[in-house]
Amino acid sequence: MTAKMIRWAAAALAAGIALTATIASAEETVEYPLIKPTRQEWSFAGIFGRYDQAQLQRGYQVYKDVCSSCHAMSYVKFRNLADEGGPGFTEDAVKVLAATYAIEAGPNDAGEMFERPRLPSDPFPSPFPNDNAARAANGGALPPDLSLIAKARAVHRGFPWFVFDMFWPYQEQGPDYIASLLTGYQDPPEGVEVPEGTYYNPHFINGVSLRMPPPLDDDLVEYSDGTPQTKEQYATDVSAFLMWAAEPHLDARKELGLKVMLYLIIFAGILYFVKRQVWRGTPH
Ligand code: HEC
Repeated sequence: MTAKMIRWAAAALAAGIALTATIASAEETVEYPLIKPTRQEWSFAGIFGRYDQAQLQRGYQVYKDVCSSCHAMSYVKFRNLADEGGPGFTEDAVKVLAATYAIEAGPNDAGEMFERPRLPSDPFPSPFPNDNAARAANGGALPPDLSLIAKARAVHRGFPWFVFDMFWPYQEQGPDYIASLLTGYQDPPEGVEVPEGTYYNPHFINGVSLRMPPPLDDDLVEYSDGTPQTKEQYATDVSAFLMWAAEPHLDARKELGLKVMLYLIIFAGILYFVKRQVWRGTPH
């Protein structure tokens, strides 16, 4: 054996060891969430997707009755509840609803701040006066503003799904994640210690546990339309509502998209026949 061959063999061995080490360390790095979100059937998925108005109304009720005690949604105004493609509240209902909350205004002629009822143009109220107060009340963790959360969370789906997602678009990662998170709390498995004041949830995107206590339970919110009052139903409805809050013009966007596609197909047909007409009789 020549010295050259020995050097090659040593180099190949070293490369092999390095590769094995990389694979082993890749196995050791834990990827969160431990359980990927469950994919749900949403009314607003796909090119013909539209929000389900009744679901958005129920979702708002869940937010208002449960989540709003910790989470602000300060980019959403009361009047948005009456916007087209949204939960479809009437303008009068929005006025009455907004007026049940107070907002600080002023100063008045005496230079003092005062409280007045909210108007439809005012945002949803925040549960805490500032972020520090919110952290102090939640064991140091800030409950994020939920206005855009459905767009701010997407779990990487890995190969081969992300290839298919390009052709049959999948844009519901956010609501899928939120619904899974809200229903995903469980007891920690044997041998897993979670830090004090946190709750084990294998669906959480940033660790094994989080500081939000399980917010939902069966029969927590009363639905007037006969929809089942289960934890899962609440989670689905509030996730759909948060999707609408983050993307209020989805209905209009999808409708325009369809019209544009239809227009392009018809236009392509016309062009084809014009081309045949123009070149008819020309030898080629
Ligand atoms: C008791 C207060 C409280 C209630 C009620 C509550 N949350 Fe939370 N939530 C928190 C806190 C605190 C965090 C931050 C957790 C952390 O980062 O450890 C959080 C985080 C979240 C997150 C972000 C998780 C992530 O990926 O970072 C979402 C989404 C969320 N909450 C949705 C909801 C919804 C929807 C409801 C109503 C059904 C709700 N929460 C009710 C306190 C609350």
